[in-house]
Amino acid sequence: MHSYHIIQFEEVTSTNEIALQAGKTEFASGTVYVAKRQTAGRGRRGRTWESSLAQNLYFSLLLCPKVAADKAHMVTIVMADALASALRDMTGSEDIFIKWPNDIVMDGKKVSGILTEMGFREDGSYYVVVGVGVNVGKQQFADELSQKATDLESQCGVVLTKEKLLETVLVQFEKRYEKFETVGDLSFLLPHYNGMLINRGRNVRVLDPKGEYEGVSAGINTAGELLVKMSDGSVKNVYAGEVSVRGIYGYV
Ligand code: BTN
Repeated sequence: MHSYHIIQFEEVTSTNEIALQAGKTEFASGTVYVAKRQTAGRGRRGRTWESSLAQNLYFSLLLCPKVAADKAHMVTIVMADALASALRDMTGSEDIFIKWPNDIVMDGKKVSGILTEMGFREDGSYYVVVGVGVNVGKQQFADELSQKATDLESQCGVVLTKEKLLETVLVQFEKRYEKFETVGDLSFLLPHYNGMLINRGRNVRVLDPKGEYEGVSAGINTAGELLVKMSDGSVKNVYAGEVSVRGIYGYV
């Protein structure tokens, strides 16, 4: 992937949906689907992603990774690292962190999210769609979101140009993605990602549908799993799937 092909839309259901559809017949990495608005923006774990404001950035990147399908989920971590780095560069703020696996937070609130989805073709090959939503301009969040969500303008007092932000994220992503395809795991990214990980070395609560527990977050391993040290000295590997991790006092 040496360059991107950017396709812009005024309004779509969901850029992830468009990219997933396209992946059935498109065999090259690097097409980016961008929309000003989405009518059915999707979030993780079946949630919706509010996408009515054209000031915000909504895009999905179609990838046909060279790594085995069971490693594909790791591109989420690659994108989170690229996104957080791009936002730090563009805003000049160091108060931008990653909430494992893929939320970007400022001042303890979410400013951006990533939804990675996979598709399979009839010939058995697979592809990945990495969808990114960034709250760019100042906005009012509905009551239940206002404690958990924020936007870049409110946090930094600057309005970033969406096009420039997209370009910066894509440049940062490509550097990392090429390494990821060569290396086949996240070892090259570990210190950098873990350095931006919120709550590292602190107590976290793991909301596992099979049972909640608490431990100390020790950062991710080369597969992108969060390592949580338990009080008995054992270490649990948390796989993203259906699990969510909180600080012990709330969202972060
Ligand atoms: C999350 O944090 O729950 C993930 C949110 C991902 C939202 C983006 S917006 C562009 C792309 N298209 C979608 O329908 N979702 C992703």
